[in-house]
Amino acid sequence: MKKKIIVTGCCGYVGTELCKLLIKNDYEVLGIDTCWYGNSLKENNNFKLLKLDIRNIEDISFLGYEAVVHLANIANDPAVELKPDLSWEVNVLSSKLLIEKSIKDKVSKFIYASSGSVYGLKDELNVTEELSLVPISVYNKTKMISERVLLSYVDKININILRPATVCGYSDKMRLDLSVNMLTFQALKNKKINVFGGSQIRPNVHILDMINAYLLFLKEDVSENIFNIGFENISILDIAKKIKSKVDTVINITDSNDPRSYRLNSDKIMSVGFKKNYDIDFAIDELIQSYNDGKIKESDDLYAIKKLRKLVENGKVY
Ligand SMILES: NC(=O)c1ccc[n+]([C@@H]2O[C@H](COP(=O)([O-])OP(=O)(O)OC[C@H]3O[C@@H](n4cnc5c(N)ncnc54)[C@H](O)[C@@H]3O)[C@@H](O)[C@H]2O)c1
Repeated sequence: MKKKIIVTGCCGYVGTELCKLLIKNDYEVLGIDTCWYGNSLKENNNFKLLKLDIRNIEDISFLGYEAVVHLANIANDPAVELKPDLSWEVNVLSSKLLIEKSIKDKVSKFIYASSGSVYGLKDELNVTEELSLVPISVYNKTKMISERVLLSYVDKININILRPATVCGYSDKMRLDLSVNMLTFQALKNKKINVFGGSQIRPNVHILDMINAYLLFLKEDVSENIFNIGFENISILDIAKKIKSKVDTVINITDSNDPRSYRLNSDKIMSVGFKKNYDIDFAIDELIQSYNDGKIKESDDLYAIKKLRKLVENGKVY
């Protein structure tokens, strides 16, 4: 019998590719998403989409599902700051609703997408899972508090929390507000990359590695709860230089008010069997190819803040 999985945020950048991978691996998936940024997944025998706000799941049954992968969130700093109350409800209170529903309906595993940004500013060369969390934005704070809410149920359900770096690479539901994706798109479209500051060090993870990590935690029962997943800790300027070596572009550096800088250490996830197969260069190459093939076109749907602002202004999201 096929294993049945619930994926919240299934229509987003990561969720779209994760659902495709799960279906390929013979899982039966129920996706829950408001489709705020659109949807490129098609329903079939192994994939059903419930167009629903995770704040309103009271009447939904999770009976018969083996695991929940919880990705639905307001997923970056500016989008969260647009309407902080909405973000606290979606990013934190809904985690509580989802895990309580999972426990009540006997789901055995809950996997949560936190963020590597929960560490805040860190000078340490190895930011391991043991270091303190000093989140500096509201988005980062919602992730930290949501982790703590979920961990308070650890005696009742298996919980794995991933703290991803900035994800990069092609998805059928692209995001162009993520560093590698954004800078590559700027180079291709405008022949100019705008780098703010540039010296900030950030870790990265390719979307195919990211979804393989979720698959690993679905397949294996891992008793440890929290795992970083981020590699290639490099500066934004060095990402721009990598792009410049492949695309005819200039790099324009201006001052930045974004101090976030940290390096993730991901030894722990490697120690439970995760293998990294992709890198930033692979992401840039596939983004160039996808752009040239006409698969990446400018649209508000590709930027969380632009789309959410419109939805909020039109009273569609409250
Ligand atoms: N992409 C990254 O670089 C990155 C890095 C670290 C952590 N994460 C986390 O991973 C997860 C997935 O990221 P992503 O890049 O795919 O984000 P995304 O913004 O592309 O997708 C989020 C999805 O959640 C849905 N959603 C939002 N609020 C909802 C609600 N109330 N009810 C139902 N659906 C709702 C949206 O419609 C969207 O389809 C998020 O939790 C994000 O915070 C992402």
